[in-house]
Amino acid sequence: MRLNQRVRGLNESITMKLNTRAMALAEEGRKIYNLTAGQLPFRTLPEFVELIKAELNFIRSFQYPPVAGLPELRKKVLEYFERSRNLNLENITAEIRKSEKPANEEDEDETVGPDKTFEFTSIICNGAKHALSSVFGSLIDPGDEVIILTPYWVSYPEMVRLYRGEPIIINSSIFDVFVPNLDDIRRAMGHKTKAIVINTPNNPTGTHYSNEWMKGFADLMMEHPDVAIISDEIYYEVFYFDPRPTYFYQYRPELLKRTVIVDGISKTLAATGLRLGWAIGPKHFLEGVSKLQGHTTSGASSLIQRALVHLDFSMIEHYLTPIKAHLRLNAQVIREKYRDYGLAHTWYQPFSAFYYMVDFSRAPLMKKYKKSEEDKTDYSHQICQDFLDQYGVAMVPGTSFGMPNSARISLVLEKEQFKEAMDILVRALADKM
Ligand SMILES: Cc1ncc(COP(=O)(O)O)c(C=O)c1O
Repeated sequence: MRLNQRVRGLNESITMKLNTRAMALAEEGRKIYNLTAGQLPFRTLPEFVELIKAELNFIRSFQYPPVAGLPELRKKVLEYFERSRNLNLENITAEIRKSEKPANEEDEDETVGPDKTFEFTSIICNGAKHALSSVFGSLIDPGDEVIILTPYWVSYPEMVRLYRGEPIIINSSIFDVFVPNLDDIRRAMGHKTKAIVINTPNNPTGTHYSNEWMKGFADLMMEHPDVAIISDEIYYEVFYFDPRPTYFYQYRPELLKRTVIVDGISKTLAATGLRLGWAIGPKHFLEGVSKLQGHTTSGASSLIQRALVHLDFSMIEHYLTPIKAHLRLNAQVIREKYRDYGLAHTWYQPFSAFYYMVDFSRAPLMKKYKKSEEDKTDYSHQICQDFLDQYGVAMVPGTSFGMPNSARISLVLEKEQFKEAMDILVRALADKM
């Protein structure tokens, strides 16, 4: 049996590969600092656990849910979105309906939706990744271009290609603390552009875009009325320094008529294994996504949905308070180590999600790898491999995020361990081992 072209074209997850190697080395008795984690290593909210236990007593917790999710939960996540992003969806709906030209029966296209009946809705999926995959699957026709900003979450380009779209990558640089230039995005947009994906707070940078950037982005999107926007907000609640993240639609609410917001409980409730996420957006579009979901996974876990219906979402903030304090401390450790080893010029301040991008390109270590001053080769993978083998520090190569000569580290490790790991890591970067 032979794999098809589509799957043969997928890149293997390098994270998984390095994780396996890190685990094998640990089993051999080596001291390993695993900085590859994409999840919080903490227990979820105890009240959530109790709610799950209570729902175990009901037959319905073990039966199929409606494909698009339990109506009470769909309503709840929509209300949570509205409240947490400080929006009034009723007013925005009315404005969107009012702004629409009377629909012409002849050219009314059901995939665009008759906007005089515009409505927002939500759909519950098996995690944010599944939501994104179904949204791409419902949006992309072969040859469509989807704009992706670097550094990007590994799965965006793979998903776009899987659905026969073409990822158009906009580079950003470590010098600009990974803020993509709006003019670069403007230049990349053309008649084939179907959508743009933004992810803020960002995996892998551990930062979110500023209010100014978001305003500029909103204005840019207003110039392109046919482009859909996919906003991956899975780390929305995870910021450990003010200000909190803002979004383009808070400046231009009318953009919500062609935006899909993806969110979930994986990161905010330390519940990656429960596989529950959601998408919020225009009803006519998400109904299509639901159709796709109906033929692929069906609905998300009944048990978890039923428990979430009863969870007070305002507890998330309280739950994250000590976790944010922990992330702040580890962010402080990064800063101190870079300062102590004379590498402050290659450091930046992370403030959200739970990651940091280590820049190899300007570190003394790089001279061991570069063959000449002009050598532009990406050595991320080799450097990460060497760090794991020589020092027991596991990181994810920047190549996976479209960012050469860098690596992602995760800030979730316990503080003393993290300190030791950072000491080794930054000392090696400074070539002082
Ligand atoms: C940016 C980003 N989007 C989506 C996801 C997927 O989240 P979920 O576990 O809910 O599928 C992740 C998980 O690492 C992520 O980092």
